[in-house]
Amino acid sequence: PRSNANACKTAGGLDPLMVSYNESIYYDRVFYAQDIRGSIAWARANHNQGILTKAEFEAIVAGFATVEEEWKSGTFAIVPGVDEDIHTANERRLGEMIGKSIAGKLHTGRSRNEQIATDMRLWLRDELRTIEAYLVDFLKVLAARAENDIEFVMPGYTHLQRAQPVRFSHWLLSYGMAFATDLQRLGEVITRVNRSPLGCGALAGNPFNIDRDAMAKELGFEGLLWNSMGAVADRDFVVETMQWGSMLMQHMSRWAEDLIIYSTAEFGFVKLADAYSTGSSLMPQKKNPDSLELLRGKSGRAFGVMTGLMYSLKGLPSTYNKDLQESIEPLLDHVKTVGDSIRIATGVTSTLTVQPQHMLAALTPDMLATDLADYLVRKGVPFRETHHISGQVVALAEKTGTNMDQLTYEQLKGIDARFEEDVKTCFDYNRSVEMRAAKGGTSRKSVEGQIAILKEILGAK
Ligand code: ARG
Repeated sequence: PRSNANACKTAGGLDPLMVSYNESIYYDRVFYAQDIRGSIAWARANHNQGILTKAEFEAIVAGFATVEEEWKSGTFAIVPGVDEDIHTANERRLGEMIGKSIAGKLHTGRSRNEQIATDMRLWLRDELRTIEAYLVDFLKVLAARAENDIEFVMPGYTHLQRAQPVRFSHWLLSYGMAFATDLQRLGEVITRVNRSPLGCGALAGNPFNIDRDAMAKELGFEGLLWNSMGAVADRDFVVETMQWGSMLMQHMSRWAEDLIIYSTAEFGFVKLADAYSTGSSLMPQKKNPDSLELLRGKSGRAFGVMTGLMYSLKGLPSTYNKDLQESIEPLLDHVKTVGDSIRIATGVTSTLTVQPQHMLAALTPDMLATDLADYLVRKGVPFRETHHISGQVVALAEKTGTNMDQLTYEQLKGIDARFEEDVKTCFDYNRSVEMRAAKGGTSRKSVEGQIAILKEILGAK
């Protein structure tokens, strides 16, 4: 191992390793457009305060147009060791374009502390709006599938043990509802992200009476952050975004896990499209649900960066500390993971083949044991008693090596005299799901009600 102790110092006196350790340009350059927009709003407000002349303001706007073009076309040349972050890089290049005497006025009363917070919020607001659109698309696909596949009945599980028959659509909507709540939450998160720290200075505020409202309005912020010390220190908007995304990824992971199980040969309820599965390099017959496994796996990564940042923030003293720079990479990673995951899930859902015959084949008459108990409830027998009686029916079927619905009427009668001829109506999976007709249940009408609610939530977006 090489010791750094005698590393040659750069001109600024920094250990070269410290230079790269400190710099954020190689990732915060994604904020180049936001940084420029923020600077233009800043220049305009300073022009209005008489700090910049009209000509200086116009030179700055024109200079930034070229700088932005360079970023866009990939021709912006980062100067290693000089361009520490996106703010210093943009200002350096602006100075080369329009002269240092004008460019040097731009930073009057401004701190990079407010700049990075502004850039991140602007960038994140727009990213979250894009993600919102992805989520709306996903929910539309889920709703369409639920509508289309409403006929199909499959086993519903608790403890991964067959429990009661449910509609495939009902299962789908159990996740649909969770994702719809994620969508509603996201709207609230965006409102809190979309507030302006610009004009807060390094920590104490702006000494030139800059018009914060005008800058906020120009940048499309919905409001201001009200305490300058708090505003430069705040990364709650990053944490909240990642907590939001973690919750969504938790739903995604469970949904993927269900589908991984349902797509095994043993279940066979669904078949994943080739576009979302891969083969094995060794076993020619394999078709692996990689897309779903990555949704499950990447959820861990999304949680990880969220908790990582919380550890970084915990215990920081007041206002800006360089630790805050460590909020950027986790955020970039998290946002990409969540956005990509929603789009993959949308593709998986729209291309999934449902195999209702395998769902039907997996249903077993003992899953109707509750219906049998409910049958006697309707004859006035207390449920605790009917539960026991139905249990005896299950036991008899097991003992005689047959299915519950194959027992003779006499055998049932032998267990409880209150069974009548119409008891055989119980042994019908469709009847079972149709009995669950209260709101939120698995009957056709209840499922249609859920689809209507989902569409209502989507309509509000
Ligand atoms: N690159 C820095 C960050 O991301 C910008 C703020 C720098 N402020 C400072 N006082 N060194 O946090």
